[in-house]
Amino acid sequence: MVTTLLPARTVEPPLLPGDAVTAAASAIPLPRHGPTLTVWASTPGGCEEQAAAELAALGWRPAPVPTPRTAQTGTACGLVWERGSVYGRADIAAILATLRAARTVTRVTWLVAATQVASLAEVFTAVREAPLPDLPDAPFAVVAERHGRQAFRSPEVARVAGDAVNATHRARTGRRLPVDLEQPTTVVRVEVTDERLRVGCELTVGSLHRRAYYAVRHHAGLNPAVAAMLLGLAGWRADQRLVDPFCGGATIPVEAALAALRRPPRGAGVGDRLAPLGLADRAARATVDAAVRSAQERGDRPPLLRARERETAHVRQAWSNLAAAGVADLVDLDVGDARRPEAYGAGCAAVVTNPPYGLRAGWRAQLRELYRAALAATAERLEVGGSAVWLLTAPRVAAAAAEPAGLALVERRTIGLGSFDAFACRFAAARQA
Ligand SMILES: C[S@@+](CC[C@H](N)C(=O)[O-])C[C@H]1O[C@@H](n2cnc3c(N)ncnc32)[C@H](O)[C@@H]1O
Repeated sequence: MVTTLLPARTVEPPLLPGDAVTAAASAIPLPRHGPTLTVWASTPGGCEEQAAAELAALGWRPAPVPTPRTAQTGTACGLVWERGSVYGRADIAAILATLRAARTVTRVTWLVAATQVASLAEVFTAVREAPLPDLPDAPFAVVAERHGRQAFRSPEVARVAGDAVNATHRARTGRRLPVDLEQPTTVVRVEVTDERLRVGCELTVGSLHRRAYYAVRHHAGLNPAVAAMLLGLAGWRADQRLVDPFCGGATIPVEAALAALRRPPRGAGVGDRLAPLGLADRAARATVDAAVRSAQERGDRPPLLRARERETAHVRQAWSNLAAAGVADLVDLDVGDARRPEAYGAGCAAVVTNPPYGLRAGWRAQLRELYRAALAATAERLEVGGSAVWLLTAPRVAAAAAEPAGLALVERRTIGLGSFDAFACRFAAARQA
């Protein structure tokens, strides 16, 4: 009754884009290792296609997937996605490589079951019947999410799902599982979207968007997973000149430098939840460590990346972050004005940036002028065939400013930034768009 997964489709090995983020993932040579699981990766909404490319490069293959329940769905590099999630099948080596090296995803979950539910009683039955692995006698937590209009809330979903997990455990062992929401050993994830229920075991500890290099956080600092996605959307390759003219705390330049060097964005000490689920595999871990090292040894030193920022205090923050990430020598960072062509150097193949959002009241007129001047300066220095990707909240203001500058808006994605949505806009010279 529980699993309503669609059959896997056979597809050719995916054709991968050549951007630096996907290329860094492709460079990790991974032989197959361990059992293959159906998994789902979470990514900020709007980042799915770049995440699918990166995951396909890390060895994820098409999977039988639950019927997507959101309006926005698609397939990229052979992997099915819906807003916020990418589905695939991955063996233990590919999963470990994802946890270690993926830049565009925030969480990886082992998808155990997907079905339809209309009530809390049905949630209980579905979780009770889900083929979850045997959980160890160790603290566990249920993380529940609910999207859509239901007669119940997520704490109630968590409670009945927890009861169901415990009923299964008691039937097998005669004991109850202790609950620990702070430091659980295992985490069962239960998500209800409209009538669709997904049940899985989290394989990540914390969110993968956390980077060790954040020495200082800019007040409007970007989610690094989104920064990596923007680099992919621009199609930036590691041998091309890149500029971030509104760099703030330098999230985008740091992600670019790390991808070019093929250096894992979270260092070596990434935790995972494989062992308590019976999935520990020392040989796979050693293989992945060696493969990640080998990719780094063959990494590119990018041509100087360029970062400019108007405020001296933010330049200092950016400097601290670049130094903490060990990439200060790869980035030409200075105080500068994005409205002036000099900020972009002699020329560049890609501009990837997030300018001020202008969320404060009374900012519209200033924003119009700022965007007009910065897009005119971009157009003057962007090489033929290059693209500029801006993450902003006023796409119409930017589109109106782009046209007189000779830039055309060629692509727009709605990006979930947690408390609000923003738009990733890709511009190209109008004559080539
Ligand atoms: C949204 S923040 C960028 C945040 C950055 N992506 C990060 O993750 O830290 C925009 C930045 O643009 C800077 N800025 C505003 N006007 C500017 C201008 N004319 N030239 C350069 N930087 C400017 C602001 O000081 C602010 O730090």
